[in-house]
Amino acid sequence: MTTNDAEPIFDVAELASFELYSPDVDATVRFFCDLLGMIETARSGDSVFLRGWEDPYGHSLKVTHRQQAGMGFAGWRASSPAALERRVAAIEQAGLGRGWVEGEVGMGPAYEFTTPDGAVQRLGWEVDYYAPPEAERSIVLNRVQRRPLRGVPIRSLDHINLLSKDVTANKRFYADLLGFRLSEHIIAGDDTEMGAWLRTLTRSHDVALVKDAVGEGGRLHHVAFLYGNLQHLEDACDVLTDHGIEFEAGPARHAISQAQFIYVFEPGGNRIELVGVPGYQITDPSWEPVLWAQDAIDNAIIWYGADLPAEFDTYATPLVGATAYRTPNRYVAAEAAVLFGAR
Ligand SMILES: [Fe+2]
Repeated sequence: MTTNDAEPIFDVAELASFELYSPDVDATVRFFCDLLGMIETARSGDSVFLRGWEDPYGHSLKVTHRQQAGMGFAGWRASSPAALERRVAAIEQAGLGRGWVEGEVGMGPAYEFTTPDGAVQRLGWEVDYYAPPEAERSIVLNRVQRRPLRGVPIRSLDHINLLSKDVTANKRFYADLLGFRLSEHIIAGDDTEMGAWLRTLTRSHDVALVKDAVGEGGRLHHVAFLYGNLQHLEDACDVLTDHGIEFEAGPARHAISQAQFIYVFEPGGNRIELVGVPGYQITDPSWEPVLWAQDAIDNAIIWYGADLPAEFDTYATPLVGATAYRTPNRYVAAEAAVLFGAR
């Protein structure tokens, strides 16, 4: 039986928020607000809360100060209060629950847990919707607000990509306990699963899990934001270049998901993917996961447009060990080891 043969669950609806750790919150917030047009909606303690102009909730990105870059948590929204209860029961039964978190800005109670890799996740139902001030209201009533006149504004949070010690075990966690469906995966010649792209509903993927070449689990490879339009991606390339942001790769097109993208490093050191044309939608209820075997791996990540640098396989946040990373971005302006320390 493949992962998708199980009865659909559909209890998790979407990635609603994401916490990013940055050693330089001010620079990270400037990157997202000034260059990518995100809107700051709140500050609390060491955290700044941001949203894209089409994100429906009070925030989609929480930037929190930490010495090491990386991921705080991925915040998922359940499909209903009952769906939340069902998933919490399943997670608790698996022994991976941490308990309820209350008091998050703009969010109701959320249940915190970890993946087998140790990546922290939250699942909740109650959220505060963004209510724009009068001057930001759009005459287009299905828009959350007017498009900001700042930078090249991203529309919304899109997906995350986490490096994994054991892709198969973590894929099963998302599929069996949370109800995600497998869209595509890569299996190497020795039968090791090297990557898995999973979806909650119809987006090609909401989370990707890729085998960590340095053997860690749960590191952030990238968090992605959506433009939905190739021209906006090219406009972003102009703006980012003018402000000293080096691209790691792109503009190019993935084969897996078929999304058009660029990868850049925000000033805190985290890799950010900007998605121009998004991936395909999957509405087929009996979709058979696409399997990329060893002989097709070279074609899986990039369809056309660019080669990926060697660091693409090893650079993730937090950085680990004494690995000599190429400084990814002159905006970061220092050796990675100095900024992030060695673990
Ligand atoms: Fe991605």
